[in-house]
Order: sequence, then structure tokens, then C-alpha cells
Amino acid sequence: NKPKLVVIGSLNMDIVIETERYPQVGETLLGERIQFIPGGKGANQAVAAARLGAETAMIGALGDDAFGEELLRSLQEAGVDVSGVKRVAGVATGVASIYVAEGDNSIVVVPGANYRVEPADIDRSEGKLLQADIVLLQLEIPVETVLYAAKKAKSLGKTVVLNPAPAQPLPEELFGFIDYLTPNRTELSRYTGMDAEGEALESAMRRMKEMGAAHVVTTLGADGSAYLTDDGGMRTLTGYKVPVVDTTGAGDCYNAGLALSIAAGRSLEEAVDYASVVSALAVTKFGAQAGMPTEDEALRFMKELKTTGE
Ligand code: RIB
Ligand code: NA
Repeated sequence: NKPKLVVIGSLNMDIVIETERYPQVGETLLGERIQFIPGGKGANQAVAAARLGAETAMIGALGDDAFGEELLRSLQEAGVDVSGVKRVAGVATGVASIYVAEGDNSIVVVPGANYRVEPADIDRSEGKLLQADIVLLQLEIPVETVLYAAKKAKSLGKTVVLNPAPAQPLPEELFGFIDYLTPNRTELSRYTGMDAEGEALESAMRRMKEMGAAHVVTTLGADGSAYLTDDGGMRTLTGYKVPVVDTTGAGDCYNAGLALSIAAGRSLEEAVDYASVVSALAVTKFGAQAGMPTEDEALRFMKELKTTGE
């Protein structure tokens, strides 16, 4: 009995350039390598969820170009149901231009076909939504579509997870349809208008909850993650220390791990811990979808943690 997820969101071809350092404004650098790797927050989350053992369907849009073909293939290879992914004629598939330097990255996304995902596409996939335990959303498709999808999923009695990335102006009513909201510190600060650094984190998370999100889980990068408990406190779980190869898509892997654990009926604490495990594994490999761990890899890693007593 596999957990069932529907991921509604973006698909991008990541054009990844490895360089020793970031170029300065007006500077030309010689890079080391360029690679084309399937990405996009939505597709990354779908691929991660499928590899981690969830029955996963994706709703999104691609152009009718070669990148679109490749992105479709990547989802299919991971076992994602792509019947809800449409091809839009005459529009370019989404692209993310990524510099990777010193284990970090900086990204410019050109959404292309992703901005063609509309409420009608959600309606067309109603059958999939009905079968799902969880609907997982991010913000690389039009906000109106995200709002429509969240509302619809709630009206069908589904649990909704929103990864509110990348940060952008949102209608406040959106938060009221979200069961689990997963900002990073920067996003949390943007949406609440509050400081979220250090001690201020807990108040900002509480504010986010007052704004309507039923549960708030904040990802803290190498510092792990924090969530609000039902008794009104905040808990922090430290992350797992791993050799960093590439953090691209690690947040997406986190969201997939969290969503599928919740779909499987685990507690929030267990879900947050599993999300930390799988996103740590994602960081050890290069590329967004290329670096997503499998369920076996996650289980092996957790066994090792137990035997080393960490
Ligand atoms: O979250 C990582 C993703 O963000 C990349 O794969 C890139 O496509 C951008 O959308
Ligand atoms: Na990675």
C-alpha cells in the first residue's frame, strides 16, 4: 500500500555550469563544465517521491521542444505518471540557468511553458487528485493556479503541502488552504514581514501559523529544520552531516520525503526526520533529479546512522 502523491508544478531543464567562483558583474570567466540535467521544483519533487517509493503523478506543462522530451523521459524513468503533463505548442520548455561554485548555487529560471499551467489543467486531472493522499505544490507556476489547486484539493478532502519557493507576493487566503507549509528562513521572513534569524525564528513561525497554515516546517539548510509542535512549542532537528557535492534540488527532496511520510501516516517528527535523511543524501550527489536518492539508499543510510549511534 504505497503512499499516493500528486505533484502540481514546474519542469525545467537545468543548464548547469560548474565554475571555481561566481563571475562578477561585467566579468567573463572560463567555466569548467556544462551539463543539461532535468530539474524544476515540481518535477524534482515528483522524481524524488517516486524514487522513495510513493505512487506519484505530476501535473504540469512542457513546450513541444527537445528539452520537453527529455524532461518527460526523466519523469517516466522514475516511474512518475505523466498523463497530467501537457505539451504546449510554440512555447519553450522552462529553463533554469545554474552556476555551481564552491558547493553552492545561484539560479535564474525562465518559466516558459510552466506559466501555462492553468486551473483547467487541474480540473482535467481531478481523477488523480481524488486518488491522492497528498497534493504537493510549489511556486514556479502561476500563483492563481496554485491557489485554485490548493482550494480544490482541500474541497476534495486532501492534505495539501506547499513549498512556498521561490518567494513572491502571495494572496494571504492561500495559507488557509495549506496543511503543511515548508519555507526556508528567507521565505518565512518574506511572507511574515518578520525577522526569522536566530531567536526570532519561533515568533515568525507562529505568525505564519496565524496567517493560516496548519503546520509550519522551516528548513534551515545545514542547521536542519524546525517545526511547531501541537502543544505550541518549537522543535529543532539538526541535519545530518554529509560531504556536500551539490545542494541543487535538496530542498525539493526534503519536501518529497516530508510529503510521502505524512501520506504514509507517520508523525510530523518522523516525517521531518525522514525529510532530513533524504535531503542529506541528495546533497551528496550532483544535479537535481540526477541526485535524488532511492528508498533503498535512504534505508541503508538510516541503518548506518543507527549502528554508528548518531
Ligand atoms: O529547487 C531546485 C530547482 O529550482 C532547480 O532544479 C531549478 O530548475 C529551479 O527550478
Ligand atoms: Na544534489
